[in-house]
Amino acid sequence: MMYSRIIGTGSYLPQKIVTNNDLEKMVDTTDEWIVERTGIKQRHIVAEGETASSMGIVAARNAIEAAGIKNNEIDLIIAATTTPDKVLPGAACLMQEGLDLPGVPAFDISAACAGFVYSISVADQFIRSGMYRTILVVGAEALTCLVDWEDRSTCVLFGDGAGAVLFQASKEPGIVSTHLHADGRYKDILTVSSGLPTQYKKDDPPYIRMKGREVFKFAVTALGDVIDETLAHNNMSRGDIDWLVPHQANQRIIAALAKRLDISMDRVILTLEDQGNTSAASVPLALDLAIRDGRVQRGDKLLLEAIGGGFTWASALVVY
Ligand code: ACO
Repeated sequence: MMYSRIIGTGSYLPQKIVTNNDLEKMVDTTDEWIVERTGIKQRHIVAEGETASSMGIVAARNAIEAAGIKNNEIDLIIAATTTPDKVLPGAACLMQEGLDLPGVPAFDISAACAGFVYSISVADQFIRSGMYRTILVVGAEALTCLVDWEDRSTCVLFGDGAGAVLFQASKEPGIVSTHLHADGRYKDILTVSSGLPTQYKKDDPPYIRMKGREVFKFAVTALGDVIDETLAHNNMSRGDIDWLVPHQANQRIIAALAKRLDISMDRVILTLEDQGNTSAASVPLALDLAIRDGRVQRGDKLLLEAIGGGFTWASALVVY
C-alpha cells in the first residue's frame, strides 16, 4: 500500500498587518464585535506587488528546506487559489518559474476555501497511482484584493498568505482518505461577480459578497456531516482524532465542529486570531504552524476540513 506522506511544510505571511482597531477607523465596527462574532483580532495584507504566486514561492521554498529535498525531486505542482495573480498563466506556472523547475507540470485548482483539501486529494490520486512520487501543494491567497473595504460585513473577515506542503510516496501513512463535496445551488450566498472585462458591471464590481448568516448555518451542517463521513469511512469514533486542522473562517463554526468531534479546543489548531480567513491558504498555514511548534508529532491523526464558495467542502484524514 502506497501513501502520500507529508515530508515538509512551509508558510508565508505578508508583513503588513491590519488590526481590528485599524478597521474601526475605516467602517462602522468595533474590536469587541469582531472578536466576539468571529475570533479574529488581526489579518496580514499583501503589499503592492505581492501576489498569490510570490507568497506561494516563499512558502514552497520553506517546505523544500524543511523536507531536505532538492528542487528537482518535485514531479508536480498544484496551486490551490481563488486569487491567482492573473487569469492566465495560472499561479502554479508562475510558482514553477520562481522555483526554477522548467518542464514540471503545474496547474491551479479553484475550489475557493476548500481548494487546498481538494488539491491534496488530487495529489494523493497521482501518488497512489504511481504516476508521480513527490508533489508540491500550495494554498496561496491574496484574498483582500477581492475585499470591499466599505462593507463591514465582509472586510473584517479576510486575510492573505500562503502555506505549502510536500507529499512523497511512502509505505508509511500518509493521507488515509479524502472526502469531497460541492453544491452549486448555493452559488449566490457567497460570490464574486465575474472579473472578466466583458462581464464587468460598474454597479456590481468584483468584490466578495456574502450572506453571512446563511453561510454560517450551511458551513456548520456540511462540515459536521463530512466529519461524520470521514470517521465512519475509517471505522473511527469521535475522540480518535488527535488534532483538528480546520479552515479558519469563524471561531464559532470551529467550536461547533470540535464539539461534534468530541475533542477539546486545545486539540484544535487555530490561526484565526492572527490571520483571519485566508481561504485556501488557511489549512496549510495552520498545519505548518502546528508542525513547526511541535504540537503535531509523527504518527498523530489529523482531520483537515474546509468549506468555501461554490459551495465546495471537503475533509481529509491524514496521519503525520
Ligand atoms: N461590525 C459591527 N456590526 C456588524 C458587522 C461588523 N463588522 N458586520 C455585520 N454587523 C451587524 C449586522 O449589520 C447586523 O446588524 P442588524 O442586526 O442591525 O441587522 C448584526 O451585526 C448581526 O449580523 P449577522 O450577519 O447576523 O452576524 P453574525 O453573528 O451572523 O456574524 C459573520 C456575521 C461573522 C459574517 C458570520 O455570519 C459568519 O462568520 N458567517 C460565516 C462566514 C464563513 O464561514 N465564511 C467562510 C466560508 S467561505 C470563505 O471562507 C470564503
